[in-house]
Amino acid sequence: MPQCNLTAEQFRRAQCAELQAWLRGAWDEDHVRYELVEHSEVLNPFRELFGDRRFRRGLDVGVGPYGLGFLGAHLRQQIDEIYGLDPLPLIKVDIGDPDLRQLVAEIRGRVKYIRGCGEYIPAAGGTFDIVACINVVDHAWQPSRIVAEIGRVLKPGGILVFGVNTLSLMGELAWRLRRSLRPQDWFFVAHPHTFQWGSADAMLRVILSKCVRVWTNKPSLWCRIAGHGRMSFWVAETKQ
Ligand SMILES: C[S@@+](CC[C@H](N)C(=O)[O-])C[C@H]1O[C@@H](n2cnc3c(N)ncnc32)[C@H](O)[C@@H]1O
Repeated sequence: MPQCNLTAEQFRRAQCAELQAWLRGAWDEDHVRYELVEHSEVLNPFRELFGDRRFRRGLDVGVGPYGLGFLGAHLRQQIDEIYGLDPLPLIKVDIGDPDLRQLVAEIRGRVKYIRGCGEYIPAAGGTFDIVACINVVDHAWQPSRIVAEIGRVLKPGGILVFGVNTLSLMGELAWRLRRSLRPQDWFFVAHPHTFQWGSADAMLRVILSKCVRVWTNKPSLWCRIAGHGRMSFWVAETKQ
C-alpha cells in the first residue's frame, strides 16, 4: 500500500519535534539506559535464524542522534564496520554514571555517524551485509522510498531487521480522530505516518519477495482489528 509523502514543511516540523525529545533525554540516565535495551526482544528470533553470524558492514537507518542504534547497542560484537544514518545532528549525551558513560562512548566509537536521509542512502548498491531500520519510517518523509533504498544497498544474502509501530484498525481510527482534534500535539507532529501490520508488510514486499527466510511477529486477526499499538518486526535474509 503506498504511503503518502510529507511536504518539506511537515518533515521539518516532525524533525524539530523529534530533536526536542532527544535533547530532553540526553541528560536522563534512565532514558539513555532504555535506549540501550529497547528492541532487544527481536534478538531471540534473530539469534534463532542467524546465531552468531559475523557481518562485515552494517547500516542503521534512522540510528537516532545519540549515535547508538540497534546494531551498535546489540550486535556490535558481530559487525566489523557499523554506519548510522540520521537526518538529525549527533548530540552530546551528558550523563553522570561513569559505567553508562563509558558504554555510550564505546558504542559511539563503533558507529560511524552519517547525517542524511534514508530516502537517499549515500552508498553504492549491495554495500551492506546487514541493515537495521527500527521505529523510523512513521517519522520519515517518504517511507516507501526508504524501504526501496534499503533493498538497493543490501547485499545478496544480506539481513534486514525492520521494526515499525503498528496500530490495529480500530486503533488507527481512534488515532485519526484524536489527530483531527489536536493536530499540533507533539505526538502527531512527530509521527506523521501510521501503519497497520498489513500496510507495513505490503510496503516491505519489495524486499521480502526477494528473501529466502522471513520472520515477523504478525499480530492475531483480533489484535489487527482491535488490539493495542505495538512494535512489529521483520527479520529477513535476501537471496544470494
Ligand atoms: C523514534 S527515533 C528511533 C531511533 C532508533 N532507530 C531507535 O530505535 O532508538 C526515529 C529516528 O528516525 C529518524 N528519521 C526521521 N526521518 C528519517 C529519514 N527520512 N531518514 C532516516 N532517518 C529518519 C529520526 O531523526 C529519529 O532519529
